[in-house]
Amino acid sequence: MKIAVVKEVRAAERRVAATPETIKKLKGLGFDLAVETGAGALSYIADADYEAAGAFVGDRASVLNGAGIILKVQGPNADELAGYPRGAVLVASLNPYQNRDLMQAYANAGLTAMAMEFMPRITRAQSMDILSSQSNLAGYKAVLDACEHFGRALPMMMTAAGTIPAAKAFVMGAGVAGLQAIATAKRLGAIVSATDVRLAAKEQVESLGGKFVMVEDEETRQAETSGGYAKEMSDAYKAKQAALIADTIRKQDIVITTALIPGRAAPRLVSADMVRSMQPGSVIVDLAAEQGGNCELTQPGEVVTTPNGVTIVGHRNVPSRLAANASALFSRNLFNFLAAFHDKEAKSIAWNWDDEILKAIVVTREGAVVHPGLQG
Ligand code: NAI
Repeated sequence: MKIAVVKEVRAAERRVAATPETIKKLKGLGFDLAVETGAGALSYIADADYEAAGAFVGDRASVLNGAGIILKVQGPNADELAGYPRGAVLVASLNPYQNRDLMQAYANAGLTAMAMEFMPRITRAQSMDILSSQSNLAGYKAVLDACEHFGRALPMMMTAAGTIPAAKAFVMGAGVAGLQAIATAKRLGAIVSATDVRLAAKEQVESLGGKFVMVEDEETRQAETSGGYAKEMSDAYKAKQAALIADTIRKQDIVITTALIPGRAAPRLVSADMVRSMQPGSVIVDLAAEQGGNCELTQPGEVVTTPNGVTIVGHRNVPSRLAANASALFSRNLFNFLAAFHDKEAKSIAWNWDDEILKAIVVTREGAVVHPGLQG
């Protein structure tokens, strides 16, 4: 079976869905590999390295021709679909809730589209979880982005000329990205606190040396879904949370927001008033910018400074800003996924459509949008 690796076309997307390492491993499983010319360039991978790993490298049409599986970082746009062979399996991050029309276009194109971000959070699938691998890098990069715009140092420094106080950093949302942001800010010497609606996050924040700030009530005991994600909270809870956050935020130098709710717009946690209460020179990095932002004043894709001197960083696609690492981890997630469905005898893939992983991630099949979350 032929696997095609197609170059990303979306603006600011520097990642690639396979590296020479995963190409070699996929070859080892008996697949033929084809990589589009220049696919790895923005992740610093040369075409020659793909060829040395055993892949054919050529133009998009020849790479896609006869492919049974297509690997991508982001799902193709409708106008890219022309060369995609009917019946092929598309494995990528598809953002299905925001792209319902595109999912229908994949169905119409006869593709079996698999949304890797729907990977269930079960032990078996941990090594296939692109949200974790990419969020981890985003959390780290968010701290570096904050430092870039922060005109002060993070650690306390005692010098002959006097002492510089440690910066205070507040991380909102202590999931994968948030925990990495806490660890990174701690390593750089900041005084770190964090908040989340899931009670389970408390111990994790504290184990990294952060202070946990949270409204604890009956609702927080049920704030986590069986899949480990946050639920949307009630208006009453949101009001209590806003009061606590308002009091915490005005004392912070750096605020990193990472709060997401699957399938919904990001929760609004930082209001314009809260931003106005912060000191000049403070920085907010909003990792939820692409999902609408956790901060009311975030401009997705922009870095803006408010009249009271607070810089708000709203980069889109933060993992792509660490493209070489992000591609390496993303590619391994895809390899681990394919390897789990590999049939040694047939040297090919044997999809078991009843498997809980496939039930969770298959969005289109046999000409229709089949995912239960996308019906109606
Ligand atoms: P996420 O990216 O969906 O959300 C980020 C964080 O924001 C979460 O911790 C969430 O609780 C929090 N949040 C949502 N609404 C909020 C609000 N209104 N105020 C404050 N915080 C809010 O979540 P992520 O990072 O993907 O992971 C969530 C959980 O899943 C974590 O406990 C993580 O450890 C767990 N996990 C489990 C895996 C497995 O078992 N295979 C793999 C990856 C993560």
